[in-house]
Amino acid sequence: MRTNNLWRVLCVSVLFWLTACSSSEEVEASWQLDAPDYFPEMVYPLDNNEVTEKGFELGRMLFFETRISSDGTVSCGTCHQPLKAFSDPVHTLSVGVEGRHGTRNAPGIFNMAFQNHFFWDGGVNHLDFVPVNAITNELEMDETVAGVVQKLNELPEYRSRFNDVFQKDSIDSQQVLHALSQFMMMLVSDQSPYDKYLRGEYELTAAESRGMLLFEKNCTECHSGTLFTDESFRNNGLDNDFTNDLGRARITEYEGDEGKFKVPSLRNVQLTNPYMHDGRFSTLEEVLDHYAGRVKPSKTLDASLLKEGEQPGIGLSDDEKSDIITFLKTLTDREFVSDSRFFDPN
Ligand code: HEC
Ligand code: HEC
Repeated sequence: MRTNNLWRVLCVSVLFWLTACSSSEEVEASWQLDAPDYFPEMVYPLDNNEVTEKGFELGRMLFFETRISSDGTVSCGTCHQPLKAFSDPVHTLSVGVEGRHGTRNAPGIFNMAFQNHFFWDGGVNHLDFVPVNAITNELEMDETVAGVVQKLNELPEYRSRFNDVFQKDSIDSQQVLHALSQFMMMLVSDQSPYDKYLRGEYELTAAESRGMLLFEKNCTECHSGTLFTDESFRNNGLDNDFTNDLGRARITEYEGDEGKFKVPSLRNVQLTNPYMHDGRFSTLEEVLDHYAGRVKPSKTLDASLLKEGEQPGIGLSDDEKSDIITFLKTLTDREFVSDSRFFDPN
């Protein structure tokens, strides 16, 4: 696989910079990256890339910069739109330069500083490496990292902004990746009604409470914790033939991982439709119908979806499905998606 090999090379070189160039110069006071105490530990190594206000603003400019792509039409924000919690508003499978169709649905981007694995198959395990894939993927931006760096170095506004943030004579790829990470790390979503409930600032309605109990009983084997994912890779029974997309096995090359995908966070799930790695379901009702009656048995189907002598899946009545959906809607963070700090500055 072409991209896989490219990956290895890039990861090794990026790792090298991360350790070799962790400059200890004081840039400016750390810009507060806050998260509630009920969130998991932050995993992003901030000591290599402290978030500063100017770094965040530069990352935001880059995130919405179409000139990054080979034909100047696609930015990160094309596929990851703020009003949709940074997921793709229209496409089942993402669409990149020249209308080329990708193979997966663009997930939302938030709470990234707390996440260990990125992409549906967990192919990347450091936030800084994520953009490399988007930039070089011929179905997305179809550019090279060197090409992006060159273009940016030719733009005086970027040169001066990069210099303000990183105090170097010229722009290099590490600075680009660090700035993008600074923007993405600041995308913390923690103001949903559910968060307010956890903080004692909101009382769940009767249906929301019923839904929460049903969710805890049936879904938290995988969608656990306050980010609603245990960050494992599981097969939730969408298919019994995985030739279209091997999932986790693409990375591990282990047969037992075929058809397994990263358990996604369910925060903002009301806004991130269509659902699943290939966007096959357009509504939460369809998702619940899947779990309740359409789970397909296969060798790698998760054991928690199998019960002796019963049809695989999670037995749920229509009322129960609807209560669960009502609960899932308490995970919608309207303040996050209307926060103008996160919008395209142009
Ligand atoms: C053409 C559409 C497209 C563009 C452009 C794009 N992405 Fe993505 N992004 C995707 C898709 C599709 C995935 C899921 C890929 C996969 O799982 O294999 C994804 C995944 C991600 C993830 C991982 C989220 C998670 O929870 O695992 C992050 C972070 C991300 N993109 C950031 C970016 C950044 C930064 C840029 C710009 C440099 C960018 N994307 C450009 C479509 C796009
Ligand atoms: C065995 C683990 C497991 C259980 C149990 C489980 N899920 Fe999932 N869920 C997953 C995985 C894995 C995915 C992603 C699958 C894919 O895209 O191929 C997923 C995807 C989803 C999605 C789509 C999210 C998105 O952004 O596309 C929703 C919604 C969802 N699950 C809700 C639920 C609900 C509600 C329950 C309980 C009724 C539940 N899940 C039980 C593992 C599980």
